[in-house]
Amino acid sequence: MEGPEVIINVACSLDGVIASNKGALIFSTTEDWLRVHKLRNSVDAILVGVNTIIKDDSLLTVRYVKSRDPPPMRVVLDSKCRTPLSAQVLEKQESIKTVIFTSNKCPEEKKKKLTDLKIDVISVDTKDETKYLDLEQILLILRKDFNIKKLLVEGGSAIITQFIKFELFDKMYIFYAPVFAGTKNAKLLYDEIVIEDIDNTNTFNITKMEKLDEGFLLTIKPQKDDK
Ligand SMILES: NC(=O)c1ccc[n+]([C@@H]2O[C@H](COP(=O)([O-])OP(=O)(O)OC[C@H]3O[C@@H](n4cnc5c(N)ncnc54)[C@H](OP(=O)(O)O)[C@@H]3O)[C@@H](O)[C@H]2O)c1
Repeated sequence: MEGPEVIINVACSLDGVIASNKGALIFSTTEDWLRVHKLRNSVDAILVGVNTIIKDDSLLTVRYVKSRDPPPMRVVLDSKCRTPLSAQVLEKQESIKTVIFTSNKCPEEKKKKLTDLKIDVISVDTKDETKYLDLEQILLILRKDFNIKKLLVEGGSAIITQFIKFELFDKMYIFYAPVFAGTKNAKLLYDEIVIEDIDNTNTFNITKMEKLDEGFLLTIKPQKDDK
């Protein structure tokens, strides 16, 4: 069985900044927010990294439109169980499920507190190459054990970078706000060491470009789809 269809969504400045190192910068406009919440409503689960939970205290719920029933599941990648017990993503478990993927670095005591809150805490392998949780394993578990057919990846920088780097997505939406944010100490859309040769990197198909409010929305797909 293959993993779910993966869609990445992000909002950034013209210079590819998604947040400052202190936390969220709101680049989405009203129309873009509405698009994002409709997109959330079209998927089975929404995934973020633990830093986004710590910095933004994200709810990961569908708002501004009537939510599907059941609402999309919430997924946090958190190898050391750093998710605060007060995080909003842990609330309302009776109606919106949250799953935390972790590793053997999650302290047992914290794991128990999370499971007491009815959170599913699932240990997976850490990849030697990246030192991060194994995304392919996570995708397969989401499909097999939770019947997640469509997954929305929302951030932040480290998570999006890993999904792009290993081309683990089917479609990506990038909303560009008409501002420059400055990249020093910024969280970037793609946070990797700069390439030295443009021929040595993956290229993507730009499948759509549309004006949205004052910004524009780009849709890209990996070229693997052409092979
Ligand atoms: N503009 C937007 O659209 C948007 C959307 C979402 C978030 N954001 C911003 O993004 C910022 C946070 O970005 P961030 O880069 O600091 O953190 P992040 O991507 O939210 O979380 C990264 C952390 O997740 C954990 N993780 C576990 N498995 C991973 C994997 N396979 N790949 C990557 N990370 C993995 C790691 O922590 P452990 O090692 O502890 O497991 C890692 O440090 C926030 O300030 C938020 O405002 C912006």
